[in-house]
Amino acid sequence: MKIGFIGTGSMGRTLVEAFIRAQTFRPSEIVVSNRTQSKADQLAAKYPGMRAAQGNIELVREVACFFICVKPGEFRTVLEEIENSVQPEQLAFSITSPVMLEDLENWLPCKVAKIIPSVTNQILCGTSLYIPGSRMNEQEQNWLHQLLATISTPLKTDEQHTRIASDLASCAPAFLAKILEQMVEAAVKKTGIPRETAVPLVNQMALGVGKLLTEGGYTLETLQQRVAVPGGITAEGLRLLDRELSPAFEKLFHITHDKYADDVEKVKKSLRRD
Ligand SMILES: NC(=O)c1ccc[n+]([C@@H]2O[C@H](COP(=O)([O-])OP(=O)(O)OC[C@H]3O[C@@H](n4cnc5c(N)ncnc54)[C@H](OP(=O)(O)O)[C@@H]3O)[C@@H](O)[C@H]2O)c1
Repeated sequence: MKIGFIGTGSMGRTLVEAFIRAQTFRPSEIVVSNRTQSKADQLAAKYPGMRAAQGNIELVREVACFFICVKPGEFRTVLEEIENSVQPEQLAFSITSPVMLEDLENWLPCKVAKIIPSVTNQILCGTSLYIPGSRMNEQEQNWLHQLLATISTPLKTDEQHTRIASDLASCAPAFLAKILEQMVEAAVKKTGIPRETAVPLVNQMALGVGKLLTEGGYTLETLQQRVAVPGGITAEGLRLLDRELSPAFEKLFHITHDKYADDVEKVKKSLRRD
């Protein structure tokens, strides 16, 4: 079976390389296309056997299933280009969250789904969210689940929770990195500890916390209890974070949801048939 990736930017490339790393597909089973042809050519050249198609139509005609990995404002151009080449039995997966399934199904005659990958999929970790469209039967949904399971822990969700689930699974690696960065900056400022000493400390700590929470038998609550002995230093710190962090995250989710609502409206408008 051949699989295609339209758009070999940051996320398209991450997915291609994750599927190769996981040995889900051999390079010879992968076809890529990109607006700037040289970028698709470069990716294909890195993996002997992979083919860079000369455009999206050529790609769509060659594959059973394809991912669309372009940004919201670039979506209409892609759909206009491929709509007459797509066949009903094909599977098209959009990784662009503000594009509604309803609009995808209006434009493409095939089975569609929305998928929200995460940069963590690059190392075959983290979650990938999927929201199947109305034309995908149970067997096809199971197939998609198994496909995503090769590079991540898949989670089926619905459009109503797309934003918050994406915030937690897909944006949060950046949010968490920002928190760790601020921790380091504050430590350097307060104590003069060299940055190059502090950074590996928090990086290794984050790795350990991830393992404790996923395979070490801890929950978010029990991990805090385990570290924070009553009357100790950690407990003081946790009390401060309770006061300061909770409002920040409420504001953060407010902002991401407002921006998402804006993007959905803009994309809906851009995908309206004239
Ligand atoms: N970054 C993440 O962690 C993440 C996670 C989940 C989902 N997403 C979503 O993934 C989507 C892509 O994001 P990204 O970070 O990968 O963006 P990106 O790096 O800008 O990549 C987009 C790619 O699409 C190509 N493209 C644009 N129009 C095209 C067309 N008509 N035909 C073929 N290729 C075309 C661009 O080609 P050029 O080389 O010509 O620019 C570029 O390589 C976004 O909607 C984003 O929200 C991202």
